Amino acid sequence: MAKMEDIVSLCKRRGFIFPGSDVYGGMAGTWDFGPLGVLLKRKIMDEWWNYWVDQRDDMYGVDAAIIMNPRTWVASGHVGTFADPLVECKDCKNRFRADKIADGISESVTTEEFLATHTKCPICGKENWGPIRKFNMMFSTHVGAVLPEDVNENPELAEKGIAYLRPETAQGIFTNYKNIVDTIYPDMPFGIAQQGKAFRNEISPRDFILRDRECSQMEIEYFVAPGTWEENFEKLRKEQHEFLEGVMGLPVEKIHELEVPEEDRAHYSKRTIDFMFDYPNGEEELMGLAYRTDFDLANIQRESGKKMEYRDKNTNETYIPHVIEPSIGVERLMLAVLASAYSEEEDRIVLKLPENLAPYRFCVSPLLKNKPELVAKAREVYEILKKKYTFVTWDDSGNIGKRYKKQDEIGTPKCVVIDFDTLEDGTVTVRDRDTTEQVRVRVEEL
Ligand code: GAP
Repeated sequence: MAKMEDIVSLCKRRGFIFPGSDVYGGMAGTWDFGPLGVLLKRKIMDEWWNYWVDQRDDMYGVDAAIIMNPRTWVASGHVGTFADPLVECKDCKNRFRADKIADGISESVTTEEFLATHTKCPICGKENWGPIRKFNMMFSTHVGAVLPEDVNENPELAEKGIAYLRPETAQGIFTNYKNIVDTIYPDMPFGIAQQGKAFRNEISPRDFILRDRECSQMEIEYFVAPGTWEENFEKLRKEQHEFLEGVMGLPVEKIHELEVPEEDRAHYSKRTIDFMFDYPNGEEELMGLAYRTDFDLANIQRESGKKMEYRDKNTNETYIPHVIEPSIGVERLMLAVLASAYSEEEDRIVLKLPENLAPYRFCVSPLLKNKPELVAKAREVYEILKKKYTFVTWDDSGNIGKRYKKQDEIGTPKCVVIDFDTLEDGTVTVRDRDTTEQVRVRVEEL
């Protein structure tokens, strides 16, 4: 099993992921994606979109604004309940998420329940805790021309212009449900999908890109007729496995379904299955599949005064649809992909990424950099492959062994080398990343 520090080190060394604002000493819970990371991230997102939206007739996409009308978050329950249990050590003054430092307690833990666990402070080792307080995880900001001095003079202004960075992409879907029904007239059941940034002021961001303050989500709200949610839940559950295992190449044995008990479920959910993954630091939630009932649409109808009902074209029956929500974080999926691909062999480190996710499909290089005829021929082959496959890289640095080492670490499935025989017979050496075997093939066969 790969160690987290090895993956972090490879990601930095090879330009996948850097700490956010690295040059200023970082910004906890934020990460920047370098050239290789951007390629991997985009491929993961594109494959998700292709599987869930482009390949289906029952899914529609949206790309909603990140800053939404603050009434969104009142109706959704986030203003009231999107909070983690915060506890402070009275000795060293460090603050923690209570359910992450004590065993066997849930997010709804009370002060008494927490104290009964006799947890010691992870920093100073003392057992001297303050009360559990609810810490709302939404980032707030001000929208409009409100100056700090205006707020000082009139504190009511602080409340007036307040807005939130969205903590889930889901609400951008729910608030567009009516627009889509009124413009696309979809048959039931149908889904609306969105990918984009979400922000959470996590008390303790941790485990590399697993728990971030700024992350990207890929979410679907799947609208169904009330009374049909169970069959649709089951269908989406199976499709999640197909996507995670078949398209993302995650090992079946590392994915575990967890039926989330009522006390741990989000405020909107009547049933949730968390898809857990064996990450390097232990089993953690990769994604969730939740039955959100008609909670969101009914709340939006109440808050906005606009009808959220759907009229069945065949039966004329009207109802507020119920919703099944598959939701996954891009960074968590990326970490699962990286951890599954990372492999240390006797004399090399290799990222055995599935071909559809590898940043580059081919690396092309001349055997010798100082032979113009080889470089010219290699450039020719590079241009041909680049046109055909797009994701092709050029490498003429160092010796051939060093190039293979680098391409293994970034997960390039095939290295193509142009040598003197190429000039004679038009064949090239193709080296396979996983087996390291080399074969000679004609350029046209690539
Ligand atoms: N709309 C439902 C929702 O947001 P969630 O369980 O809070 O539910 C869904 O989040 C998914 O988003 C998680 O399963 C995880 O993959 C990802 N996610 C949530 N918080 C995250 C964080 N702080 N950092 C990285 N990914 C996160």
